[in-house]
Amino acid sequence: MTYKVFSDEETELVGKELASTLEKTGISSAFIAMRGEMGVGKTVFTRGFASHFGIKGVKSPTYTVVNEYRGRVKIYHFDLYRISDADDLVSVGYDDYVADEAFCICEWSERIPEEIPDGAITVSISRVPDDEAARIIEISGVEEL
Ligand SMILES: Nc1ncnc2c1ncn2[C@@H]1O[C@H](COP(=O)(O)OP(=O)(O)OP(=O)(O)O)[C@@H](O)[C@H]1O
Ligand SMILES: [Mg+2]
Repeated sequence: MTYKVFSDEETELVGKELASTLEKTGISSAFIAMRGEMGVGKTVFTRGFASHFGIKGVKSPTYTVVNEYRGRVKIYHFDLYRISDADDLVSVGYDDYVADEAFCICEWSERIPEEIPDGAITVSISRVPDDEAARIIEISGVEEL
Protein backbone atom coordinates (compact mmCIF):
# COMPACT_ATOMS: atom_id res chain seq x y z
CA MET A 1 0.00 0.00 0.00
CA THR A 2 1.35 3.41 -0.93
CA TYR A 3 0.31 6.77 0.47
CA LYS A 4 1.28 10.27 -0.54
CA VAL A 5 1.07 12.79 2.30
CA PHE A 6 1.67 16.52 2.54
CA SER A 7 2.19 17.28 6.24
CA ASP A 8 3.36 15.93 9.63
CA GLU A 9 -0.28 15.46 10.61
CA GLU A 10 -1.00 13.28 7.61
CA THR A 11 2.06 11.12 8.27
CA GLU A 12 0.86 10.68 11.87
CA LEU A 13 -2.54 9.71 10.55
CA VAL A 14 -1.09 6.98 8.33
CA GLY A 15 0.76 5.62 11.37
CA LYS A 16 -2.44 5.74 13.37
CA GLU A 17 -4.34 3.97 10.62
CA LEU A 18 -1.80 1.16 10.53
CA ALA A 19 -2.19 0.70 14.29
CA SER A 20 -5.96 0.68 13.94
CA THR A 21 -5.85 -1.89 11.16
CA LEU A 22 -3.59 -4.17 13.20
CA GLU A 23 -5.76 -3.86 16.28
CA LYS A 24 -8.92 -4.65 14.29
CA THR A 25 -7.19 -7.73 12.91
CA GLY A 26 -6.44 -8.82 16.47
CA ILE A 27 -2.72 -8.29 16.17
CA SER A 28 -0.93 -7.00 19.29
CA SER A 29 2.55 -8.12 18.42
CA ALA A 30 4.54 -7.28 15.29
CA PHE A 31 7.91 -6.05 14.11
CA ILE A 32 7.68 -2.87 12.07
CA ALA A 33 10.87 -2.19 10.14
CA MET A 34 11.10 1.51 9.27
CA ARG A 35 13.32 2.80 6.49
CA GLY A 36 14.09 6.23 5.22
CA GLU A 37 16.70 8.93 5.42
CA MET A 38 17.32 11.25 8.35
CA GLY A 39 14.48 13.63 9.12
CA VAL A 40 12.06 11.97 6.73
CA GLY A 41 9.38 11.37 9.37
CA LYS A 42 9.96 7.94 10.94
CA THR A 43 9.49 9.26 14.47
CA VAL A 44 6.44 11.29 13.41
CA PHE A 45 4.91 8.11 11.95
CA THR A 46 5.69 6.19 15.16
CA ARG A 47 4.05 8.95 17.22
CA GLY A 48 0.86 8.51 15.20
CA PHE A 49 1.01 4.73 15.56
CA ALA A 50 1.40 4.99 19.34
CA SER A 51 -1.35 7.59 19.67
CA HIS A 52 -3.90 5.05 18.46
CA PHE A 53 -3.17 3.05 21.62
CA GLY A 54 -3.41 6.07 23.91
CA ILE A 55 0.35 6.60 24.12
CA LYS A 56 1.47 10.21 23.95
CA GLY A 57 4.82 11.95 23.87
CA VAL A 58 6.78 9.60 21.64
CA LYS A 59 10.23 11.06 21.12
CA SER A 60 13.24 9.92 19.22
CA PRO A 61 15.23 7.31 21.15
CA THR A 62 18.45 8.24 19.37
CA TYR A 63 20.50 8.41 22.59
CA THR A 64 18.95 5.41 24.31
CA VAL A 65 18.52 2.96 21.38
CA VAL A 66 15.11 1.90 22.65
CA ASN A 67 12.19 3.58 24.42
CA GLU A 68 9.47 1.52 26.06
CA TYR A 69 5.84 2.62 26.10
CA ARG A 70 2.77 1.02 27.63
CA GLY A 71 -0.80 1.82 26.69
CA ARG A 72 -3.38 -0.76 25.62
CA VAL A 73 -0.36 -2.52 24.14
CA LYS A 74 3.38 -2.41 24.63
CA ILE A 75 5.50 -0.53 22.13
CA TYR A 76 9.27 -0.74 21.92
CA HIS A 77 10.61 2.06 19.76
CA PHE A 78 14.14 1.48 18.48
CA ASP A 79 16.48 3.87 16.75
CA LEU A 80 19.50 2.00 15.45
CA TYR A 81 21.22 4.96 13.84
CA ARG A 82 24.11 4.82 16.28
CA ILE A 83 24.75 1.11 16.47
CA SER A 84 27.79 -0.04 14.57
CA ASP A 85 26.71 -3.59 13.87
CA ALA A 86 24.26 -6.28 14.90
CA ASP A 87 26.51 -7.34 17.83
CA ASP A 88 25.52 -4.13 19.62
CA LEU A 89 21.97 -5.45 19.77
CA VAL A 90 22.96 -8.10 22.29
CA SER A 91 23.72 -5.58 25.02
CA VAL A 92 20.41 -3.85 24.33
CA GLY A 93 18.51 -7.11 24.89
CA TYR A 94 17.12 -6.99 21.38
CA ASP A 95 16.03 -10.64 21.22
CA ASP A 96 13.95 -10.32 24.39
CA TYR A 97 12.20 -7.25 23.06
CA VAL A 98 11.47 -8.94 19.75
CA ALA A 99 10.15 -12.08 21.48
CA ASP A 100 7.78 -10.12 23.71
CA GLU A 101 4.06 -9.68 23.03
CA ALA A 102 4.56 -6.12 21.81
CA PHE A 103 5.01 -3.91 18.79
CA CYS A 104 8.66 -3.34 17.96
CA ILE A 105 9.02 -0.28 15.77
CA CYS A 106 12.51 0.00 14.46
CA GLU A 107 14.01 3.13 12.87
CA TRP A 108 17.12 2.54 10.75
CA SER A 109 16.27 -1.12 10.30
CA GLU A 110 18.48 -0.92 7.18
CA ARG A 111 21.39 -1.28 9.63
CA ILE A 112 20.42 -4.79 10.67
CA PRO A 113 18.87 -6.45 7.60
CA GLU A 114 19.69 -9.95 8.84
CA GLU A 115 18.09 -9.31 12.24
CA ILE A 116 14.68 -8.29 10.93
CA PRO A 117 12.31 -11.12 11.86
CA ASP A 118 10.42 -13.04 9.18
CA GLY A 119 6.97 -11.67 8.65
CA ALA A 120 7.93 -8.13 9.61
CA ILE A 121 5.90 -5.20 8.37
CA THR A 122 7.97 -2.73 6.37
CA VAL A 123 7.34 1.01 6.33
CA SER A 124 9.48 3.02 3.90
CA ILE A 125 9.22 6.79 3.85
CA SER A 126 10.78 8.95 1.17
CA ARG A 127 10.83 12.59 0.20
CA VAL A 128 9.31 14.06 -2.92
CA PRO A 129 11.40 16.44 -5.03
CA ASP A 130 10.33 20.10 -4.94
CA ASP A 131 7.86 19.65 -2.09
CA GLU A 132 9.42 20.10 1.36
CA ALA A 133 6.53 18.56 3.31
CA ALA A 134 5.43 15.81 0.93
CA ARG A 135 6.30 12.19 1.56
CA ILE A 136 5.66 8.82 -0.03
CA ILE A 137 4.90 6.13 2.57
CA GLU A 138 5.00 2.52 1.44
CA ILE A 139 3.71 -0.17 3.77
CA SER A 140 4.15 -3.85 3.02
CA GLY A 141 3.60 -7.05 4.94
CA VAL A 142 0.08 -6.32 6.19
CA GLU A 143 -2.66 -8.46 4.67
CA GLU A 144 -5.46 -5.97 5.14
CA LEU A 145 -3.79 -2.92 3.60
N1 LIG B 1 4.90 15.02 5.64
C1 LIG B 1 5.72 15.02 6.70
N2 LIG B 1 5.74 13.91 7.50
C2 LIG B 1 6.57 13.86 8.55
N3 LIG B 1 7.42 14.83 8.92
C3 LIG B 1 7.43 15.94 8.18
C4 LIG B 1 6.59 16.07 7.04
N4 LIG B 1 6.82 17.29 6.49
C5 LIG B 1 7.75 17.88 7.23
N5 LIG B 1 8.14 17.08 8.26
C6 LIG B 1 9.18 17.42 9.24
O1 LIG B 1 10.22 16.48 9.07
C7 LIG B 1 10.76 16.13 10.34
C8 LIG B 1 10.62 14.64 10.57
O2 LIG B 1 11.28 14.33 11.77
P1 LIG B 1 11.41 12.88 12.38
O3 LIG B 1 12.11 13.03 13.66
O4 LIG B 1 10.09 12.20 12.37
O5 LIG B 1 12.37 12.18 11.30
P2 LIG B 1 13.08 10.75 11.41
O6 LIG B 1 12.88 10.08 10.12
O7 LIG B 1 12.62 10.05 12.63
O8 LIG B 1 14.61 11.19 11.53
P3 LIG B 1 15.84 10.44 12.23
O9 LIG B 1 16.40 9.48 11.23
O10 LIG B 1 16.81 11.53 12.52
O11 LIG B 1 15.33 9.75 13.46
C9 LIG B 1 10.02 16.93 11.39
O12 LIG B 1 10.73 18.11 11.65
C10 LIG B 1 8.72 17.25 10.68
O13 LIG B 1 8.13 18.43 11.15
MG1 LIG C 1 13.59 9.35 14.30
